[in-house]
This record gives sequence, structure tokens and C-alpha cells, in this order.
Amino acid sequence: MSTTHRIHITGIDVTVPCGETQTVLDAVREAGYEMPFSCNAGVCASCKGRVVSGRISPGAVGDHTLSAEEIASGHVLFCQARPLSDITIEPRHIEKTDPAARRRLDAKVMRIDRLASDVVRLKLRFPAGEKVKFKAGQYLQVLLPDGQRRSFSMANPPHQNDGAELHIRLLEGGAFSRTLANDLKVGDVLRVEIPHGDFFIREEGAGAPIIMLASGTGFAPIKSMLEDGFRQGQMRDVTLYWGARTQKDLYLLDLPTSWASRPGFRFVPVLSDAAPDAGWTGRTGYVHQAVLEDHATLASHQVYACGAPAMVSAARADFIDQRGLSANAFFCDAFVVAAPQTAAAATA
Ligand SMILES: Cc1cc2nc3c(=O)[nH]c(=O)nc-3n(C[C@H](O)[C@H](O)[C@H](O)COP(=O)(O)OP(=O)(O)OC[C@H]3O[C@@H](n4cnc5c(N)ncnc54)[C@H](O)[C@@H]3O)c2cc1C
Ligand code: FES
Repeated sequence: MSTTHRIHITGIDVTVPCGETQTVLDAVREAGYEMPFSCNAGVCASCKGRVVSGRISPGAVGDHTLSAEEIASGHVLFCQARPLSDITIEPRHIEKTDPAARRRLDAKVMRIDRLASDVVRLKLRFPAGEKVKFKAGQYLQVLLPDGQRRSFSMANPPHQNDGAELHIRLLEGGAFSRTLANDLKVGDVLRVEIPHGDFFIREEGAGAPIIMLASGTGFAPIKSMLEDGFRQGQMRDVTLYWGARTQKDLYLLDLPTSWASRPGFRFVPVLSDAAPDAGWTGRTGYVHQAVLEDHATLASHQVYACGAPAMVSAARADFIDQRGLSANAFFCDAFVVAAPQTAAAATA
């Protein structure tokens, strides 16, 4: 790929080349540097940073991922932005890629459990003696034989580091979903790359009460975060809202229900499509609406939201606009589907 522009990175005072079709994030990562990112799709805002000088095409930016002040002061989403000239950028965080920090491993399938009609729990075991370091909330990528990758969050807490528990929603027509539903069996091996992601509990603002918001399998990283927190005994005031269409879609309902006796923890399950005759006596509606109903203000909260991109985007917009949540106190992983790729593009 021919280089068209150069990207100067303040702080570390490094300049990297950028190919004509590359985003800033791709160019920086290809040059051997890591900066925060997650969805790679303009939804989660993990990759937010500032362009200090030069011209840029901002690309597709989701609602409320950047405030008007941030846009005015040159902030962009580096996973979407493409340089139109040589530019200078100021990422929130940047460091040289540490090849030892991210590992590629052959993980053996230990268990496959159907937890709901379209949710599978996959338990993987890493090779003997391989302990993997990750933060609660991060994800791994399954490397498919044709070069494509699929992202899934670890549902196990980091101290259980000899394997990974994944909660996977089966998508009709999905490449990995199809393999999982039809072919994968105990004893098979999957190539994985671990860890990835910027979704983890922040130390800053440690006194702030936390709202955790999950839709569907967005429960997976939240489970990891909570079990890690319970183990460390450092529980802050946490309310978990877990939303799904029907009760059977809350595929591990007994687990967060059992946590409800823990001091400082509250669990609110919410169904958006409960049948009138199903006997559900809990909350109904959209999960982020339940948070709005329960809180007159979110000005002093931190929010960790995970799951469907539409839920994440609506929560961010409404919490900030209607309840005064600080934009810097909203952390999320949006479960965007992998961009369809040709095998050639995937292996390039
Ligand atoms: C950071 C992160 C963490 C995630 N964690 C989880 C998790 O813990 N659990 C979870 O369930 N999901 C998670 N996801 C979402 C998951 O990675 C995607 O849903 C993934 O794409 C599923 O892979 P698949 O191969 O089954 O489906 P894909 O092959 O990616 O297909 C996804 C959908 O797109 C459609 N599609 C595929 N190709 C085309 C095409 N050419 N044209 C039009 N439509 C097409 C399919 O029919 C299907 O409905 C996460 C995503 C991210 C970004
Ligand atoms: S990584 Fe750029 S918005 Fe999610």
C-alpha cells in the first residue's frame, strides 16, 4: 500500500506512514503502536483522540460519541478518521506494541452448552502451563481458518487464567455461528488471540457509584468484571441492569439473582418483549429506559454498558443529554458484527 501522508504522534514524538485507504488507527497499529480501541466501527468512542494539526476526513461518527466541544477542539474517532494531509495527533494513550502482552494460542474446546435457543456458552482451555493475563471486561479474537477474526468477551474473571468462558449469540448466516452450531465439538482446537479491548473498570473516580448495563450476551464481560470485583472485596455501589427480549434470553438469570445478597449490589432484570401470559413480574421495556426511570440524575455515576450497538448508543445519548452523565464517565463495548470480508482481504 503506498504511503500518502505522515502521522506525527505527540507525546512520544514519533512519525508513522499512512496508506491512502488507511484510518489513523490502522496506520498507527501497523507501525507497531497501540492506542485504545474496541469496536473499530465508530460506536464505542474508545479510540477518541485529538488532531492537533493537519486536515482529516472524520468518517462515520456515531451520535454522541463526540460532544460539540470535543469536535470543536479537534477530537475525532481514530478508527474512522483518514488523513487528508500530514497530520499531528494526540491520542489519549499510546505505547509501543508489546508482542508479549498479546498472545496467539491454540485453545481446546472443553464444553459447549446451549444456554438459550440462540446463546451458546463455550469453555476453552489454553495449552498446559499457559496462563494468560487479561483485564476483566476484555475480549479475545477467534482466528478463523480463512483469515477472518471474530471478537468475543471473556466471561470468566482474570484469575481463572488457564482458559476462557465465552457467551456467544448465534447469528443466522454468521460464519462462526454456523461452525459453532453445526460442527464444533469438545476436543476441537480454536486459534485465538488474547487479550484485546479497552472495556474495564476505571480506577479514576473510584468512589463513584456504578451502573452496569448489559443487553443479551453483553452480560459476558460484565460477569467477568463483577466476579473479579467480588473476589477482590472492593465492591463499590453497583447496580446491574440486564435486558433481553424474554425471560429465557436472560440465559443465566440465577447467577446475578444470587449476587443480590451482596452488600452494595443490586440487580434489575428488564424484558422488552415479555408475553402477557408468561408470568413475568419484573421490569419491562428497554433496558436503558429502566435506568432513566430509576435515576433523576447520573451526574455522579460511572456507566459501563455492553451489548447491542443500538442500546449502547441510546444509553450514551440519553444518559448524557437527559441525566447529566459526564461523557468521560461512560465506558462501553458495542458488539458490532464483524465487517464482511473476502478471504483475500482478511489474510492481507
Ligand atoms: C469488542 C467486541 C466484543 C464482542 N463480544 C461478544 C460476545 O461476548 N458475545 C457475542 O455474542 N458477540 C460478541 N461480539 C459480537 C460478535 O463478534 C459478532 O456478532 C460477530 O460478527 C459474530 O460472528 P459470526 O461469524 O457468528 O457472524 P458474522 O459472520 O460476523 O455475521 C454476522 C451477521 O452479519 C451477516 N452477514 C455476514 N456476512 C454478510 C454479508 N456479506 N452481507 C450482509 N450480511 C452479512 C450474517 O448473516 C450475520 O447475521 C463482540 C463484538 C465486539 C466488537
Ligand atoms: S474503536 Fe473507534 S469508535 Fe469504537
